[in-house]
Amino acid sequence: MTAPARAAETDQMILRGGRPLMGEVALKGAKNALPKIMVAALLTEERCILRNVAGIVDVTIVSDLIAALGGEVSSPEPGVLEITTANLHPMQRSVLKEFSGKSRIPILTCGPMLARFGESPVPSLGGCQIGTRPVDFHLRALQDMGAELHDATGNAHLTCERLHGNKIKLDYPSVGATEQVILAAVRAEGVTELSNAAMEPEIMDLIMVLQKMGAIISVDVDRVITIVGVKRMRGYDHTTIPDRLEAASWASAAIATNGRIFVRHARQEHMMTFLNRYRQIGGDFRVSDDGIEFWRAGEKLKSTALETDVHPGFTTDYQQPFVIALTQAQGVSIVHETVYEQRFGYVEALNSMGAQIQLYRECLGGLKCRFGQRNYKHSAVIVGPTPLRGAEIHIPDLRAGFSYVIAALVAEGVSTLHNTALIERGYENLVPKLRALGAEILD
Ligand code: EPU
Repeated sequence: MTAPARAAETDQMILRGGRPLMGEVALKGAKNALPKIMVAALLTEERCILRNVAGIVDVTIVSDLIAALGGEVSSPEPGVLEITTANLHPMQRSVLKEFSGKSRIPILTCGPMLARFGESPVPSLGGCQIGTRPVDFHLRALQDMGAELHDATGNAHLTCERLHGNKIKLDYPSVGATEQVILAAVRAEGVTELSNAAMEPEIMDLIMVLQKMGAIISVDVDRVITIVGVKRMRGYDHTTIPDRLEAASWASAAIATNGRIFVRHARQEHMMTFLNRYRQIGGDFRVSDDGIEFWRAGEKLKSTALETDVHPGFTTDYQQPFVIALTQAQGVSIVHETVYEQRFGYVEALNSMGAQIQLYRECLGGLKCRFGQRNYKHSAVIVGPTPLRGAEIHIPDLRAGFSYVIAALVAEGVSTLHNTALIERGYENLVPKLRALGAEILD
């Protein structure tokens, strides 16, 4: 894999704005698919090969976790991982402690570890602080499948003889909980019918891997996923889908800076909702077999009203970079965030750069939302276009980090971004890519 970018070493980036981004970037495997597919390797003793692997933090964390559990992870060539977990052992508390709080992925090991050893501790999780992000759906589903939860203050632990299939309905189509159920159900006894499941492309990619491994999984259009448990699973050889969230981030950068970026490997079928919205606000794009090129159709951008939602809605991870484009659009835009209750924490710093964004507790949109009555500022009204000026800002989370990069590129003057390592969680080689697109990054 490629070496970590310079930003990760210094943890800050100094940018001079005012130049459009022009050129090409290439995507690798999706951040929200790769680590889960690595976890799937725990379901088999056979060798698994994962291709199109990006050098991002979650991949490193899961590689280290698998190694700490007795598995072998190697990289025979750049972008390829070979994983074998024949000598896996149950998770010890020390291992759990080491990985707790680093990422959201370790919770997904519960199902495979229950299948292998009949027991699994429940890891406490890290990841971006964009809401409370509980794991109640995960634990309830595993319990519905026969796992017993022993909750000795702070040391929660699951045990079971063998998980069994069940009818499970999620309260909300959670990505992680859907993956949890699928990963647990593939080796459970009998049939699991999961309703109100998430259907993100990354989940479909995981399902493709599991089918290669011997699983029997069907996906219905009405958010129902049915899994017939099997006793044994084989190894896999899989090329992960490209990262649509990174593609949308570069697309937002192109339109906000009035540039033109060809995102190699971006796939239209994963991004249809985003592409529609992009066109509505005055962006344009050309789809080819190799990727998608993004630019501004005319001089001015148009405002819009949108609501984030689970796939195939406007994905919440598109939201922050897209809002920077909306600060440059004519008129009043409204964004109702319905997936995370606290995903507008980054707005204050944008306002200090000259943006005019006001947050509201009310649901400014028609979607049924879990946050309206709970006092969270989860709707934003953006007045544009506003010139932005350089500032010194601290990055609170991954997507906010990329949105600050775009804001700094749009802004007049110099910006210093701190905590850039957070962006490296999801964007491989950020600094070299930005430089190749003509961004002025000061040493
Ligand atoms: N939720 C619960 N209980 C649960 C699980 C989820 O209430 O047991 C709630 C969450 O609090 C949230 C909503 O359900 O309000 C959706 O959460 P979800 O479980 O779908 O999120 P996740 O699996 O933790 C993944 C991505 C996120 C992405 C979301 C939604 C990974 C590693 N992370 O998180 O990615 O925003 O799905 O699409 O796959 C990002 O890439 O920047 C990022 C945050």
